[in-house]
Formats: sequence, C-alpha cells, structure tokens
Amino acid sequence: MDYKNLVKEALAAREMAYIPYSGFAVGAALLTKDGKIYRGCNIENAAFTPTNCAERTAFFKAVSEGEKEFAAIAVVGGPKGNPPVDYCYPCGVCRQVMAEFCSDDFVVVIGKSEEDYRVHSLSDILPFTFREPDLHR
Ligand code: THU
Repeated sequence: MDYKNLVKEALAAREMAYIPYSGFAVGAALLTKDGKIYRGCNIENAAFTPTNCAERTAFFKAVSEGEKEFAAIAVVGGPKGNPPVDYCYPCGVCRQVMAEFCSDDFVVVIGKSEEDYRVHSLSDILPFTFREPDLHR
C-alpha cells in the first residue's frame, strides 16, 4: 500500500502546529476505514501540561465527529521552518490513545517526506497493550 498521500496530508497538518514554546512542529493525518482523513497538529500551552500532540488532536477530532474505525495514521515532525530531517515517533501517551481505538494491525506511518517513510503496525510500536478487557481480568 502506498502512503504517499497520507504523509502529504500530515505535512500539510504540520503547517498548522501551534508551537511557541518548543518550536517542534508535528503533523498527523488519520485515515478512517471508509477513506476519510482527519488532520491534527500539536497545540502547546503556556502551562505546558495542557499541550496536545498532533496524533491526539487528529484522534479527538475524528472521534468527536463519530468516527470509530481507523485504518492508518501518518506522523511527521521536526524543528519548525524546515522539512523533517528525522523520523518522529509517537509518544507513549499517543500510542495508548491509538490502542484505545485501534487493533494491533492499525498502520502507523512515520514520514520524513512523501518519498521517505516507514510503515509499522501498532503492535510493533506498542507491544503488551492495556485495553478495556484488561480491566476485567
Ligand atoms: N509532539 C507531538 O505532537 N507528537 C509526538 O509524537 C511527539 C511530540 C509534540 C508535543 C510538543 O508540542 C512538542 O512535540 C515537543 O515535545
């Protein structure tokens, strides 16, 4: 499968990053199973802890619009003002949010550019998950 367009959407999302404190711009593009794309960027805050990562912005936008079935997410990030020079992997909190809504085969695409990206499954980057059924064991 070609994820060029999803990475392109993530790069466009990255342009909207609100990053007065870190200067680190991240974009995400979340693909639903029926083909819709929700963009997200990181949104920082003077109090620091309210900061929301790009991946969670995309998930929360989509879930708040009624989406529950997701196929893939593309993530791109790096210091603002330049294209990404390295791969930007999701933080642990965002991986946990992915696990809430996605199965182990959910595709996580980490991009530097439309031509240069890595494709993982959620279980590659978050093995040994904690999900709702674990509350009842
Ligand atoms: N950030 C993301 O948006 N996603 C990631 O996967 C890693 C970190 C943001 C949070 C913060 O605004 C900035 O990058 C520096 O940590």
